[in-house]
Amino acid sequence: MKTQIKHIHGRRIWDSRGRPTVEVDVLLQDGSSGRGVAPAGASRGSREALELRDGGSLLNGLDVAQAVTHVNSEIAQALIGRDALAQEQADACLIALDSTPLKSRLGANATIATSVAIAQAAANSQGQALWQYLSQGQPVRLPLPQIQIFGGGAHAGRRVDIQDFLVMPIGAQSFDEALVMVANVYHAAGQWMASLGKRHGVADEGGWWPDFSSNEEALQTLTRSIELAGYRHDQVAIALDVAASEFGQSGRYTLGLDQHVYSTDEWLQELLRWVNTYPIVSVEDPFAEDDTAGMQAFTHAVGQKIQVIGDDYLVTRVDLIEAAVRDKACNAVLLKPNQVGTLSETRQAMQTARQHGFGMVVSARSGETEDTAIAHIATGWDTGQLKVGSFARSERMAKWNECLRIEESLGNNSVYAGKHGLKLAL
Ligand code: PGA
Ligand code: ZN
Repeated sequence: MKTQIKHIHGRRIWDSRGRPTVEVDVLLQDGSSGRGVAPAGASRGSREALELRDGGSLLNGLDVAQAVTHVNSEIAQALIGRDALAQEQADACLIALDSTPLKSRLGANATIATSVAIAQAAANSQGQALWQYLSQGQPVRLPLPQIQIFGGGAHAGRRVDIQDFLVMPIGAQSFDEALVMVANVYHAAGQWMASLGKRHGVADEGGWWPDFSSNEEALQTLTRSIELAGYRHDQVAIALDVAASEFGQSGRYTLGLDQHVYSTDEWLQELLRWVNTYPIVSVEDPFAEDDTAGMQAFTHAVGQKIQVIGDDYLVTRVDLIEAAVRDKACNAVLLKPNQVGTLSETRQAMQTARQHGFGMVVSARSGETEDTAIAHIATGWDTGQLKVGSFARSERMAKWNECLRIEESLGNNSVYAGKHGLKLAL
């Protein structure tokens, strides 16, 4: 069989934070090959699949020698001879081989890199781009991007508490135009901050590292930057990733910059005030992963009007998405393939979200590489949205630029999801 897996090779490479990560090459009988790379989060949900790190003193304990060894031994042995076109069977084999709930034996970094490499090899064997292979002949759209302008939280020394201040070019007519809009806002924000003396380089995902005196000042500056770039709020809107698990637990939210501790209800009132004051169309993880009551109250208050995304709250898991549907705790899901550890499980999470009318945002991690698979996943599965970080640093730009190439390859048939990519079409 031409598409039989002939060889699997794992190696250590380095991510955008200069930390080790796992890369896997898969070679098929017909000579086709594919590559997958594991990204790494910094503000991880506690229910995510485990990223296997070696521990000890070498490289601050972050080396991935064990995960790489798992790829080159057990994983290779189990998968060689299997059909790369049978992604679900290959992923089921990885799940069974690991045999733990959170992939803690083999490491989700080993399994996701292998899983994506198989899909890429299969696509190449069919002479298809990855997005085309993943689409299985269904219609596709280029995603509405969520692009970070200011970085905060765990990605910027906690200079501001809110992790991502992002924009969404909802008024663009094409992905190409969407990036022009974002470029104008990104540079307007940078110049405006520099003139105020509040710009200090870039954060982990390429957004400006700000020197604001309150979280709300970031919202004011972002709103102003959109205007300075010449856009209306129905052209470029704001999204937030609060990443509240980073500063909230057990119903208490400690905002370092604002020097204030909020109860769940007080934090709700503050967020609602922001949503009512600024052109915000999407809020991710407004409450901590342990605060279902907070997520429910927020979704109840604004879920008819804006998108409420669960990231740490859902960690790309079908069971947690189903629970959130029952609880009415959010109305959209962030899909991070390495949170769950295989492409097939990510796809199941996507399908569960779709069935229940949830919005879907394929997302990178804060630790990334030049790998562009998620641009293809967002397009091929037609999730409608893609979040990759900011508009600087090549590990981010690689994904945005790949979307441009996909759009170009589709020619007149290309469709940009635009505002319809959002959970709530405005
Ligand atoms: P992470 O953050 O990759 O550091 O977990 C990204 C996010 O919270 O969306
Ligand atoms: Zn997040």
